[in-house]
Amino acid sequence: MRVWVIGPGALGLLMAVRLAEAGAEVGLLDHRPGRAGRLAESGVCLEHGEGELRLPLKASAHPPDLAHCDLAIVCVKAYHTAAVAEALGRHLAPGARALTLQNGAGNVETLAAALGRERVLGGITSEGATLVAEGHARHAGTGQSFIGPAAGEPDAFCHQVVDLFNAAGFAAQAAAGVPNLIWTKLVINVGINALTAILDVNNGVLLELAGARRLMELAVDEALAVGRALGIEFLHADMPEAVRQVARRTAANISSMRQDVRAARRTEIDFINGIVCQKAAELNLAAPINQALTLLIKAREEGYLEQAGRGET
Ligand code: PAF
Repeated sequence: MRVWVIGPGALGLLMAVRLAEAGAEVGLLDHRPGRAGRLAESGVCLEHGEGELRLPLKASAHPPDLAHCDLAIVCVKAYHTAAVAEALGRHLAPGARALTLQNGAGNVETLAAALGRERVLGGITSEGATLVAEGHARHAGTGQSFIGPAAGEPDAFCHQVVDLFNAAGFAAQAAAGVPNLIWTKLVINVGINALTAILDVNNGVLLELAGARRLMELAVDEALAVGRALGIEFLHADMPEAVRQVARRTAANISSMRQDVRAARRTEIDFINGIVCQKAAELNLAAPINQALTLLIKAREEGYLEQAGRGET
């Protein structure tokens, strides 16, 4: 299968290296020409439990290159999805599809608006990856991935993608009901990401601080009420406990939002707690805790982004 991975962040590099090792023809698309040039010249590196893999990879900042692939895996931050969707709409070949496993809600819809639902696969992954340096990622922890079509049941193409993921060493399953998958992961991020970024603590510490634990519970309850009103069927009967379990299992992790705040980068708050507030408003529901978390993160961002005169990775 010919695959373009869009975005050379931690998850993008993990996918690119593993899928190339499994025999896919992989290219990396970046919006920064300078970085794409350096990656094309020096290759990429993935550290993992048993050592490291260094690979030469095709890398480009030229969106028309997307015309030569069967699958485009979108691994950019959620605030770049609209620009990526526009490029995919222009260049992706008619039989090719896009896959998003990004954090947050709204990515599938943005891609589907540009490509049509039938050309979009979505899902979730709990593979952990950390960006060590440009072109260099660490596979921080193995997880599970669920991949399915934006609408309907998994078809032959979806199964081929899942087979490729399994050949690459990811534990992947084909699944229907992508919104249920995405909202289940979203609720986990709602409970963990903003709080760890605001308090500047590792995920596990949230369970040790009574105030943080309570805020986590309240933010999660609001998101669950919104999700249920949208018709979401969550994957776990006890979602608050599922969120605590992830915080326990990833106790030593620096959440992606805390990494963004620490690096003075724009965060994905609008697509996590922010989207809960937006949907709550549309449904006439209240989400004051998510609103407070969103505003606190936005205030942090405003401080450092204005100072640095930049907003994106
Ligand atoms: O965004 C993240 O950091 C991760 O999705 C999670 C599960 C919260 C673990 O750190």
